[in-house]
Amino acid sequence: MTAALVARDLRVRFHLHDAVVNAVTGVSFTLEHGSTLAIVGESGSGKSITCLTLMSLLPHTAEVSGSVLLDDGRDVLAMSEAEVRHVRGKDIALIYQDPMAALNPVRTIGSQIREPLRIHMGMTRRAANTRAVELLAMVGIPSPERHLKSYPHEFSGGMLQRTVIAMALACNPKVLLADEPTTALDVSIQAQILELLKRLSEDLGISLLLVSHNMSVVAGLADEIAVMVPLMLYCEPSCVGVALVEIAETSLPACGSERQ
Ligand SMILES: Nc1ncnc2c1ncn2[C@@H]1O[C@H](COP(=O)(O)OP(=O)(O)OP(=O)(O)O)[C@@H](O)[C@H]1O
Ligand SMILES: [Mg+2]
Repeated sequence: MTAALVARDLRVRFHLHDAVVNAVTGVSFTLEHGSTLAIVGESGSGKSITCLTLMSLLPHTAEVSGSVLLDDGRDVLAMSEAEVRHVRGKDIALIYQDPMAALNPVRTIGSQIREPLRIHMGMTRRAANTRAVELLAMVGIPSPERHLKSYPHEFSGGMLQRTVIAMALACNPKVLLADEPTTALDVSIQAQILELLKRLSEDLGISLLLVSHNMSVVAGLADEIAVMVPLMLYCEPSCVGVALVEIAETSLPACGSERQ
């Protein structure tokens, strides 16, 4: 059986007017069907840029190489913009790091959830409305019909996060990328959102790529964990401890060595 998503040797460079930034330098991983892979790494290690690369959403200043293979063998990075538009949302969906940035502040929640349903799924307004209510109920928004008329600023942080999860699930994606989906939330809401993501991906048969800078956040949820550090992704499925120890040993001076 082929994997849900395979990333091979992803490299991203940004060409700025006076410098070149190597944002991602050789990331490879395999996301198996129905499993949860966590990518953990410090700030600036290239996690968000990796997610955007998987969706082929990088700006024109980026030079990208490598391949992103879907389960049918198609390479997202080799597709035209028209082809990749059919892939986004349906094959791979992304929950952005900042929910407010993913939502338009002057449009109602309902219109923003209906939009992909109408464009990608060809639903009528009425059908899209019914599905939007279902989606909001599925992610635990109370009184979903009433809340379709709300604007983003009327929602709490937890409700916004639930809403962007609902939007990502709208077109029944096979693979869901969640880029630090709980960073802005307090600890108890974080746990609820992560539990929701895990339950929904299991119930709906979605393969989940969970990005975090916090190992403890993903420890109980992921089937496999990859640790990303600037310049390299150490991918050690079922062997996370070893990867971490190796990084710690190579990056820290031996005890007392500097004093000698
Ligand atoms: N548009 C851009 N132009 C130039 N450099 C960029 C651009 N976007 C990101 N970078 C650089 O790429 C590197 C990786 O950024 P990225 O946002 O992927 O980090 P991250 O691991 O997601 O960090 P965080 O945990 O803070 O979200 C950083 O050094 C960042 O400054
Ligand atoms: Mg990020």
